[in-house]
Amino acid sequence: MTERSRGGERVALVHVDLKDSNAGANGQDLREFQELVDSTGATTAAVVTGARKAPDPKYFVGSGKAEEIRDRVEAAHAQLAIFDHALSPSQERNLEKLCQCRVLDRTGLILDIFARRARSFEGKLQVELAQLQHMSTRLVRGWSHLERQRGGIGLRGPGETQLETDRRLIGGRIKQIHKRLDKVRTRRSQGRRARRKAEVPTVSLVGYTNAGKSTLFNRLTEAGVYTADQLFATLDPTLRRVDLGPAGHVVLADTVGFIRQLPHDLIDAFHATLQETREADLLVHVIDAGDDQREFHIEQVNGVLAEIGAEWVPQILVYNKIDLLGMTPRMEHDPARRMMRVWLSAATGAGVDLLREILTEALQYDTVHGWLDLPPDAGRARSRLFALGAVLQERIDDRGASHLQVRMPRREFEAFSRREGLPEHALRA
Ligand code: GTP
Repeated sequence: MTERSRGGERVALVHVDLKDSNAGANGQDLREFQELVDSTGATTAAVVTGARKAPDPKYFVGSGKAEEIRDRVEAAHAQLAIFDHALSPSQERNLEKLCQCRVLDRTGLILDIFARRARSFEGKLQVELAQLQHMSTRLVRGWSHLERQRGGIGLRGPGETQLETDRRLIGGRIKQIHKRLDKVRTRRSQGRRARRKAEVPTVSLVGYTNAGKSTLFNRLTEAGVYTADQLFATLDPTLRRVDLGPAGHVVLADTVGFIRQLPHDLIDAFHATLQETREADLLVHVIDAGDDQREFHIEQVNGVLAEIGAEWVPQILVYNKIDLLGMTPRMEHDPARRMMRVWLSAATGAGVDLLREILTEALQYDTVHGWLDLPPDAGRARSRLFALGAVLQERIDDRGASHLQVRMPRREFEAFSRREGLPEHALRA
């Protein structure tokens, strides 16, 4: 947006250990924060750390620490202070006034990174929407670039303050983006339904940022999708067809890099994109095997998955980058394929054949297919099946009862059956 951090900008980082949250993870948090900032191309000129029990309403930190930040910013000639926390609009304002420099919070930072990485039309709209929503609560400065787009002079109504004009302009832009996104979403869900109908399962790659999703995606599809050793090299899900031999084709979706405390504005904005993940038949959860915080990152990813309603989608855990650990590829799974793990290297390709093998088995194992008979008063269950894209065909009999041929992931069917109170063996061949 107008004031995002420019490459090469000198920044001061502020990270505070909050005693009552995430105990034990703070050292890692600071490192991850530093990586996030590095990925914007900014130069870290100072790092201020501290600890407190709970945020202070005025400056987030206490007033003594706030003065220390001001002094460090001045001494380091920093143009921007970035906090590794969500700040309220008034905390941001108070800090800017005190430090005489711009202040960005964690949400603003992540939005900025996502904005740079967005490649598709949809991704760009989603990020812009999240940015506008984040900014609309902190409007104190001019919003001149929007005004310029709309012609500027003469735009402001009589008696309307700059702030009111800004709010109105933002509101208008938000509405416009919503409209465009609705169109894109409709197309996306049509695509999903078409894939379901054609019985093409979708496999979605998920994982903590930098785990190697794009590299694995390329390896599996042999497509030249952009990868970079930067956080968030992938933003938009990229869909490709993969031939799994006996199991036929699947659609592989490369998704956004997950991250600790993904801002809520962003989860909302990326809802449609993340839906691809929720409706996938199978998730390939990519993990950096050599990461000393890998268990913590697995938890973070599962947390985001639960937040978007994808916790029930079966997962294959892929421990990637084994070339760096000198390990040989292997896989393990239990008889019911509830637990599936593969150790491989996406970079060298070692073990990717094992992943293909387990993908094939899991997809054959985990899909249900058959006829479901619903009484005439089961309209809600019927429309839910349509909304899930699970219906291949429907026959309505003389009594108005509906007979649906469905195909869907077993877990999804089990959840659906529980919710609708279907008897066991409701699905017939
Ligand atoms: P985001 O888009 O940020 O979510 O990242 P990603 O999970 O898509 O990771 P990406 O594929 O961009 O890989 C991140 C970095 O790890 C890149 O520098 C890759 O070259 C490297 N990498 C990925 N897989 C392997 C691997 O098997 N071995 C080694 N040594 N490096 C790998």
